[in-house]
Amino acid sequence: MTLAGPQRPRAGAELSELAIIENGALLIRDSKIAAVGPTEKIKSLIDNGTSVVDAAGRIALPGFVDAHTHPVFAGTRVDEFEDRARGATYQEIAARGGGIQSTVNKTRAANLKQLVQAGKRYADWFLRGGTTTIEAKSGYGLSLEDELKLLRAIRKLDEQTPLRYVPTFLGAHSIPAEYRARRDDYVSLLIDEMLPSVAHEKLAEYCDVFCEAKVFTNDESWKILSTARCHGLGLRMHADQLSLSGGAKLAAELGTVTADHLEHTNDEGIAALKSANVQPILLPGSVYALGSSRYPAARAMIEAGLAIILATDFNPGSSPTPSMTMALSLASTHMKMTPAESITATTINPAYSLNRGHEIGSLEAGKIADVVIHDCDDYRELAYFFGIEHAWRVFAAGKELSADYTDYAEVSTVPR
Ligand code: NIG
Ligand code: FE
Repeated sequence: MTLAGPQRPRAGAELSELAIIENGALLIRDSKIAAVGPTEKIKSLIDNGTSVVDAAGRIALPGFVDAHTHPVFAGTRVDEFEDRARGATYQEIAARGGGIQSTVNKTRAANLKQLVQAGKRYADWFLRGGTTTIEAKSGYGLSLEDELKLLRAIRKLDEQTPLRYVPTFLGAHSIPAEYRARRDDYVSLLIDEMLPSVAHEKLAEYCDVFCEAKVFTNDESWKILSTARCHGLGLRMHADQLSLSGGAKLAAELGTVTADHLEHTNDEGIAALKSANVQPILLPGSVYALGSSRYPAARAMIEAGLAIILATDFNPGSSPTPSMTMALSLASTHMKMTPAESITATTINPAYSLNRGHEIGSLEAGKIADVVIHDCDDYRELAYFFGIEHAWRVFAAGKELSADYTDYAEVSTVPR
């Protein structure tokens, strides 16, 4: 499954065009794909020094590109998970000081090394599922020092693991407890101190805001994202997740690269996204894990001609899964997306949303060799058999993932 095609995000019928080469092969040289084509042709290019991997009828896919994750935090929220099983809601838990704030408290107490250790455990999960690039948000620090600590942890994880991280500053994830009575001061802190420092240290490529009636209002989101743009950051936005607050329309007005979640977005919002060419990122894992049945209107978005993306939203509260194949399964069962559409939405389309469409997201000569062989006879099995990972052999930048790059022994020192 090469996903070769036009050099831009795919929309409409293009979402179903996977550019499959039956009996195909590819040649990797150093970290790059040197050639892709029918096996017979590729065979003629190899020499004695080439090691051969026989996929034996399995499918090879570009590494998944997960364009929305919150992968650096301390602790878990298993206690709140149990509370929700007993009937409490996500919003009730947040209102009593739990939710994002409880992860913020634990994350502030952790040092850089501990956050990197915790992050390596999750990096391993992403890679084993066949994901080779993730967009990684900060957002569990919510003070200047703690947000910088998270972004530095993301940088270290990028350097120290085979997973590729694209960093996003999400200081506007929640108003931290100490600012609840003076929220304007927190918005000023974001604008006057955090964004300039993040930009100065080049710690992030994008800025995101959790735009939601009870979190950051449309006005606040506008101010924060416009400032981020002045600092040279690309824009992303959590929009219309828990209510219809006009987030999609605001994303369109700002011309963000993506608008994410969109569970409550209506036809007007979809039309606005289309007119501004914003890519929607749909996160069915968070809908599922919150026990909601309100999935975003994927079909209407596809019919409107949007270049949609599917991602995990991996985070300790609303979506504790790094599994892209889980997103594929949910997309088919609850959002009526075909497996082919979902594969485009987890490879080439997210690559473009991260400004990396020229180097990842498809199997084409010259691109980085992020290649995953999945143990499937038919690509539709990726979405059909669920609850297991299909990735069989994972190559990140041409290097095969080995079993022992993560030191699990150290992980137990991380406060959970
Ligand atoms: O994408 N929407 C806001 N942020 C996350 C939830 C984070 C958390 O609960 O820790 C999300 O769902
Ligand atoms: Fe999120």
